[in-house]
Formats: sequence, C-alpha cells, structure tokens
Amino acid sequence: MEIFSIFSSWLLTAVLVLSMFLICRYTLKSNRSSMVSPKLPPNPPKLPIIGNLHQLLGKPRHLAFSQLSQEYGPVMLLNIGTRSCLIISSSAMAMQVLKDQDQILCSRPISKTTKLLTYNYVDAAFSPHSNHWRKMRKVLVSEFVGPKRARLTNHVLLTEVEIMLRSISLHPSNSAVNITELFLAIAKAMICKVAFGSNYRKREQLLKGPSLEVMLDEVMELLDPSLSDLFPWLGPIIDQISGRNHMLEKLFSNLDAYIQTYVDDHHNHIGKVDDDDKDFLHTLLELSSIENASHDDRFTIEEIKALIMDIFIGGIDTTFATMVWAMSEIIRSPRVMQKVQSEIRNCAGRKQKLDEMDVSKMTYLKIVVKETLRLHPPAALLLPHESLSHCQVGGYDVLPETMVFINGWVIGRDPSTWGENASEFYPERFENLDQVEFRGVNYDMVPFGGGRRTCPAIKTAPATIEFTIANLLYSYDWKIPGGEKNEDLNMLEEGSLLVRKKLPLFLVPTKHNWED
Ligand code: HEM
Ligand SMILES: *[C@@H]1O[C@H](CO)[C@@H](O)[C@H](O)[C@H]1NC(C)=O
Ligand SMILES: *[C@@H]1O[C@H](CO)[C@@H](O)[C@H](O)[C@H]1NC(C)=O
Ligand SMILES: *[C@@H]1O[C@H](CO)[C@@H](O)[C@H](O)[C@H]1NC(C)=O
Repeated sequence: MEIFSIFSSWLLTAVLVLSMFLICRYTLKSNRSSMVSPKLPPNPPKLPIIGNLHQLLGKPRHLAFSQLSQEYGPVMLLNIGTRSCLIISSSAMAMQVLKDQDQILCSRPISKTTKLLTYNYVDAAFSPHSNHWRKMRKVLVSEFVGPKRARLTNHVLLTEVEIMLRSISLHPSNSAVNITELFLAIAKAMICKVAFGSNYRKREQLLKGPSLEVMLDEVMELLDPSLSDLFPWLGPIIDQISGRNHMLEKLFSNLDAYIQTYVDDHHNHIGKVDDDDKDFLHTLLELSSIENASHDDRFTIEEIKALIMDIFIGGIDTTFATMVWAMSEIIRSPRVMQKVQSEIRNCAGRKQKLDEMDVSKMTYLKIVVKETLRLHPPAALLLPHESLSHCQVGGYDVLPETMVFINGWVIGRDPSTWGENASEFYPERFENLDQVEFRGVNYDMVPFGGGRRTCPAIKTAPATIEFTIANLLYSYDWKIPGGEKNEDLNMLEEGSLLVRKKLPLFLVPTKHNWED
C-alpha cells in the first residue's frame, strides 16, 4: 500500500513534468511556426516591385477596392510597393477592426505629406497612437466640438445661414444658384470662425497667397501616398524630379503662413476677450501661456498649429461634400423632397426664421441626412489605420505595421445588409430602426469610423448639415435649371481620399408660396 502510494505519487509527478514539458515544446513550436508562415488574407496576383499597384490605377480608389473585394473577399491583402495594405469590405470585418481589435489597429501610417503637414506628428488626426495623440485628441474634443464651444458654434451657424439666405434672396429671379459654393462657404466659416473668431474674413482678405479652399484641394491630392512612401529606394528621386516635393513644401509653407497670421493676431488680444466670445485658438494660446505654465495642458505653438491643420483637413470638405450630396439626393427624388419639405414647414409653422429647436424635432430630415451618409460617406475609405502589433482579423493574421483601409463606401451599399435596393436613396429604411450613433450595433455603416479613432465631430457635424438643409428647403422651392428632369441629375463622383460630387450643384429657387 505504502509502496504503491509512493510509486503512484512518483508516477504522477513524472507524468506531470513530462506533459508540461511537452506542452511547452508544442506551444513554442506552434508559435514559431505561425510566425514563420502566418495565415495571410487572400492576395490578388501581384507583379514584382509594384505589387498590386497596377490593379488600382485609373479608377477611384474605393471602386478599385470594391471590385477586387468581390473576387477576394471582405478581408484581403494588397501589396502596394513596399507597403502591405489590409482592405476591409464588410460590416462584420469592419467591426472586428474598429471594435474587437481596436486597441491594436488604432494607429496611423506615416507618410511624407502627413509628417510635414502635422509638424512632425504633434497633431491628433494623423499621428500614430501614443499618449501624445491622446492628449491632443482630448483637447480637440473638449475645446472644439465640446459643449464649451456650443454657444459660439450655434451663433456662427445662425449667422452663416442668414448670410446664405440673404444671398439667395438677392439672386436674380429664375436664375440658377451655385449651391456648392454656398455650402462650401458655410462649412469653411463654421471651422474658421470657431477657430479664429468672427472677424476671420476681414483678416483673410488681407492675406496674400492662394485661398484656403484651393490649398485644401491640394492637400487632398497630396494626402495620397507618394512614391517616396511606397518605394523608398527610387521614389524620393522621382518625387523630386516630378515636382511633387516642391509642391508639397510650397503648400505647407502657405498653409503655415495662413495659420501663423491668426496666431500672431491672437497674441495681441489674449485676455481681452469675454469668455463667451473666446474662440478655439484663443483658448489654446491661453492654456499655453507662460503665466499659465503650471497647467497640465500646455501646448507648443506647433501643436496648436497642427490642431488647426487637423480641423481644416478633417472638417471643411467632409461637411460641405455631405451637404451637396444630401441636397442632390433630395432634388433627385421628388417624393423625398415633398416629404421633407412638408415636415420642415409643419414643424416650424410660418415664421421669420428657423431655430435649432425646430430642427431638433425633424425626424425625417435626420434620416435623410443619415441615408446620405450611408450612400455617400465623404471619407469613403475613412482615414487609413495601422496595426501596432500582430493580430487577427477574420481568422487571418495581420502583421505589425500593416496599413488598414476600411471601405465605408462599399459597406454602406452592401445588399446583404441593406437589401435589394441598397443603392437606392430610401431614407424610410431607417424609420423603425433605433440605430446607435450612425454605425448601428453591427457597424452597418461607418461614415465616421469607429473605436478610438472615431471622428470627434460625429454629433456636431450632422447637426450643422441638418440645420443648413432645413433652412434652404423652408423658404424656397427648388428645381434643376434648363428644364432637365430632376431624376437625371448628374451624380458622378470624384476624388479618392475625399469623394465628392464632381459637378457643382446648380439649382433655381422660387420663394415658397404659403397658402393661407
Ligand atoms: C460630415 C462630416 C464628417 C465626416 C463624414 C467625417 C468623417 C471622419 C472619418 C471617417 C474619420 C476617420 C475615422 C477613422 O479613422 O476610423 C474622421 C476623423 C476625424 N475627423 Fe471627421 N468627419 C466629419 C466632420 C469633421 C469635422 C467637422 C471635424 C472638425 C473638428 C472633424 C475632425 C476629425 C478629426 C480630428 C479626425 C481624426 C480623429 C483621430 O484620428 O483621432 N471631422 N472623420
Ligand atoms: C460653383 O462653386 C464651386 C465652389 O466654389 C466652384 O468650384 C465652381 O467653379 C462654381 N461654378 C461656377 C460655374 O461658377
Ligand atoms: C491664463 O488662463 C486664464 C484662464 O484660463 C486666462 O484668463 C488668462 O488670460 C491666461 N493668461 C494668459 C497670459 O493668457
Ligand atoms: C426598398 O426596400 C424597402 C424595404 O425592403 C421597401 O419597403 C421599399 O419599398 C423599397 N423601395 C423601393 C423604391 O423599391
């Protein structure tokens, strides 16, 4: 008995030790082998050196990605020069990236353009994941889009909408208004006035150099990866010869000068402005003044300028492109136009002008804007993410430093989510859905991204768009010039980082005739 028990405990120990040894060996080996041959996502056939680049040329990026994904699936890998890019094309996979693996896939790739424009990544939108990014994002959220700035933001919106309506009323009757131009002016003023104060236009008129609009168009072009980013060996030489480097440096120096003008102006006025009138730049400069040095949130001038750069790049073109898409879709569908106009007019009744309280009751208008963002997310591929370390998406291995593109455009039009008429403008599809913050519980649409990189303006930007559209539709009826049929409005897209309507939208207003 005793011998037996001694023997058995000896045997037990031996078995335990042996099995632990085997388990260790096995896991070590399987770890090593999974690193040696990771299970990579499907990869379309590629050419030497350029990789899959040739499959992307000559069409808008989101369409090229969409076509490839039909063949290779919702998770695929493209090699573009020396970069590996993960392309995500379904809501289930977007959810894995933006939610399940958010802590690993929340960085941003570096590029020559973003490095220069963000003063070497001291900003919030383009900087890789870090504590510094967190600090910059926090100040953007609390000082630009947060409730502290809501009073100024509302005030600016009311003023700008009034300017828009006045310019329409002064327009020669029966002639077409350039709606694109009006929307661009509002979107720009919403950013610039909240950033620099309400007399930013006066200051701007004195500035030399290209206009902010023109500079931002160039930014969108140059944000596309350069050859230097994709081909570190030969690319820099080609970028030099082709003039791209020169164009980028010139653009940066113009933008920097533009922002610096306002910084200099503000330096002279610090402390002289009432709290309610303080703009974003004013607050940032106060927070970083020597007097307030002990403050946790001190910022360098470059950090402040980088934040301004972020809101210029992230806030103006996205907002105005969405407004143009919304108005175009409404015009194209007489049914939607009739319905949304009667909601606006019923909610507000007959009065001088709309206020925000009226608009907050307009539920159909809200889903019209939402449907617009489903079909036309202006940042069709969001902003590129990058992996911080190894992880898995859809059962495939994703290696560190992989760029991740989420094709929000194709996700919003996926028939397996949205049904047969996925590509139709049909706001009623949201009528009985209690969707969480645009993306839905299942990441059915992702116009503002998701996870820790979610657009900070996810609440404020839609409100701006709703209010502007409501005002346009309240006092005027609209039609397409030249007797063309509304349904035939040209909806061609252009752009790759920012997808907007190619042709400007021109519409003819008639003052609404209240039947009373
Ligand atoms: C309709 C209007 C807008 C749309 C559709 C939009 C969309 C987006 C998208 C898709 C992203 C990337 C999310 C991701 O990487 O997962 C983003 C990021 C960002 N947006 Fe917006 N945006 C809009 C308006 C604005 C406005 C008005 C601002 C001005 C404050 C703004 C500032 C930013 C910033 C700073 C980021 C970077 C956030 C980060 O990387 O942490 N956006 N936006
Ligand atoms: C309409 O406005 C847009 C935006 O400002 C501008 O690019 C376009 O040239 C204008 N179209 C015409 C015909 O003036
Ligand atoms: C320091 O901060 C306070 C409040 O934030 C502000 O009133 C004051 O003007 C700031 N000082 C300077 C020199 O900016
Ligand atoms: C689109 O689909 C919805 C729901 O499936 C349906 O009620 C609606 O009538 C369809 N719209 C059109 C224009 O066919």
